[in-house]
Amino acid sequence: MAHDDHRHHQHEHHDHHHHHDHSDIDWNEMAPLLEAQAELFTPMYEHAMAWLAKRQTEPGLIVDAGSGPGVVACLLADAFPGARVVAVDGSEPLLERARARAERLGVADRFGTLAGELPDVLDDLDYPVDLLWVSRTLHHLGDQRAALAAFADRLAHGGTLALQEGGLPSRFLPRDIGFGRPGLQERLDALEAQRFAAMRDDLPGSVAETEDWPALLTAAGLRPTGTRTFLLDLPAPTTDRARAFVAATLTRTREGLADHLDADDRATLDRLLDPDDKASVHHRPDLFVLAAQTVYTAVRTQ
Ligand SMILES: C[S@@+](CC[C@H](N)C(=O)[O-])C[C@H]1O[C@@H](n2cnc3c(N)ncnc32)[C@H](O)[C@@H]1O
Repeated sequence: MAHDDHRHHQHEHHDHHHHHDHSDIDWNEMAPLLEAQAELFTPMYEHAMAWLAKRQTEPGLIVDAGSGPGVVACLLADAFPGARVVAVDGSEPLLERARARAERLGVADRFGTLAGELPDVLDDLDYPVDLLWVSRTLHHLGDQRAALAAFADRLAHGGTLALQEGGLPSRFLPRDIGFGRPGLQERLDALEAQRFAAMRDDLPGSVAETEDWPALLTAAGLRPTGTRTFLLDLPAPTTDRARAFVAATLTRTREGLADHLDADDRATLDRLLDPDDKASVHHRPDLFVLAAQTVYTAVRTQ
């Protein structure tokens, strides 16, 4: 089947799968933040892909499961110029952005999308997958063990599953920023951890699981082949793009944590987000971005 046909086939015939995932997150609304983040994190993804490329033969079919707006899917297309890439997501508007991006970047002839609920939607793929990239998405699925088994099932013999989960909470500010109580980000992280737990509990079919990813990959019938953490290190003084990303991230944090923030920390966040305040993330000279994300790989050997 020609690549173009493949793309249109998948796009047109699988729209019926589209519905919102059942969590409270409005993924379409998050498109600008997902794009800004993935664009800023591009050097980190390029390292991860170079690491993947070194360790496997040139893949024919790459699937990005939970691709969102397709920034990383397009990077995969760049990193693996011989491969066809299919971006899969529950949100059709995000996939529309992915297709537009592929068009802009000149890779549309080997780029397709597939809309539907993970992991079941992967049954609609026409071919076994040589490289299945699943970044920051598995934790949005209720039964992570079952999802990994379904992912493993879609792999070609010798195919690789690359799972990005965990790492470290990102840091943007010194411990003491000159106002408010020092240690703001650590307190926000603790609240985020509670919110994350509640998010998981609320997922349909939510199953508690020990998050030992290599063990779960093994249980899915795969052979774990590596774990590596990739850094994004953008020291101060930083760029406008990094400032915009931090502002968008902290805005989402403030909205998401709403009532759980104490009055002091809310006031500090308000100041940090006020574009007219010289001490805000929009202007302060000490702002940085330090992020660490872990990738686990496993291969299908049978
Ligand atoms: C945090 S984003 C990650 C996007 C991208 N992979 C990245 O690392 O930046 C999670 C993505 O998974 C998608 N998603 C969440 N739950 C899903 C489900 N049950 N089925 C299909 N897609 C889902 C969302 O629409 C969203 O685009």
